[in-house]
Amino acid sequence: MSSSKTVEFAPAFDFLFRPYRYKSARGGRGSGKSVHFARALTVISYSRPVRVLCCREVQNTIRDSVHKLIGDQISALGLAPWFRITDSSIKSSVGSEFIFKGLKYDPQGIKSTEGIDICWVEEGQTVSEESWSILIPTIRKENSEIWISWNPIDEDGPTYKRFVTAPPPDCYNAEVNYYDNPWFPDVLRKEMEYLKATDYAAYEHVWLGKPLTVSDAVIFAGKYTVETFPDDLWEKADRLFFGADFGFARDPSALVRCFIFGDCLYIDYEAYGVGVEITELPQLYDSVPGARKWPIKADSARPETISYLHKEHGFNISAADKWQGSVEDGIAHLKGFRKIIIHDRCKHMAEEARLYRYKIDKRTNDILPVIEDKNNHLWDALRYSLDGYIKRKGADWFDLV
Ligand SMILES: Nc1ncnc2c1ncn2[C@@H]1O[C@H](COP(=O)(O)OP(=O)(O)OP(=O)(O)O)[C@@H](O)[C@H]1O
Ligand SMILES: [Mg+2]
Repeated sequence: MSSSKTVEFAPAFDFLFRPYRYKSARGGRGSGKSVHFARALTVISYSRPVRVLCCREVQNTIRDSVHKLIGDQISALGLAPWFRITDSSIKSSVGSEFIFKGLKYDPQGIKSTEGIDICWVEEGQTVSEESWSILIPTIRKENSEIWISWNPIDEDGPTYKRFVTAPPPDCYNAEVNYYDNPWFPDVLRKEMEYLKATDYAAYEHVWLGKPLTVSDAVIFAGKYTVETFPDDLWEKADRLFFGADFGFARDPSALVRCFIFGDCLYIDYEAYGVGVEITELPQLYDSVPGARKWPIKADSARPETISYLHKEHGFNISAADKWQGSVEDGIAHLKGFRKIIIHDRCKHMAEEARLYRYKIDKRTNDILPVIEDKNNHLWDALRYSLDGYIKRKGADWFDLV
């Protein structure tokens, strides 16, 4: 490029320069989506003739559009002499043209738009199913592309279903977040850090682009955080606890290590593997410091595995007590901690914390008093680890029947 300015791109956006029918960049706030899309389109339209449709669900005036964003990029890259910017369009000296339209109130205008090479759908999460079904067949030129920048709302939204749940062929799905943006502004970093410290689930939605869950249905909503804490903090606790859950078929095998300190439960290590053979369990467990020294409480449904780990490999492992209602009693006990603090390195534990839920009646959205039997492997392991600490509620009654 003949401009003296260097064009800087975050590596996470390299895919914008590779050919795909669909390029979706979804993620949390401030990840650089809008700036990078505008910048990439500026560079492309400067170097070769392309017709670009910039659209969004609602565009009342051109001020709602990405017109200004593209204009800013043209100036920032020092390319103003090669572009002509009017109130309603932007053209380049090589014959490129940008047009700006709203989808919702102008379906006819969209349908009659011809010869589009690249269509940028900004704020894609607001686009309705009807708008998608009108827009997509309009973008019909050979090798034409549809670019989508968006912040997911929930898994039931039309954009989520179309591009994440069941993506079309030749769709590049990028997840980009603030840590992918080298220019993430300080003012946003402070907002992000505040929310991360005060409401982890909200942080995951706003800053990591995770779809909203019916948060009341998340069993440990508001109870847990994910953070780093010193590796030697456990030494201040009375003891360590280890719990193991065994994989069946496609379920993972899991080992978790935790300790209690200051009314809080700290989870500091996890081991997690799908399709792990019994003979590979010792190696998996050895990735958790202290697993050979401390007692491990395990799922009582697999006595032969427990016996193998104990007799053949010397682990101090035994079965945790299980009773009718032990899952509910265990959850009640875990909720009794002031906070459950998951170490940043325990990625699967953090994922299960977000996903372990009560069932929801899809028709009425009612949250039911039934715990979903999934995303519970590390939670089960955690319950087993506290064997003897978790009280049997109504035990007398169960003993009688
Ligand atoms: N290439 C860049 N050069 C300089 N600053 C940049 C660049 N990319 C992003 N930024 C900075 O990062 C900020 C956030 O970027 P941007 O607005 O593109 O994020 P976004 O992912 O579209 O956010 P949202 O989800 O809130 O719409 C910008 O306001 C700008 O300050
Ligand atoms: Mg944006």
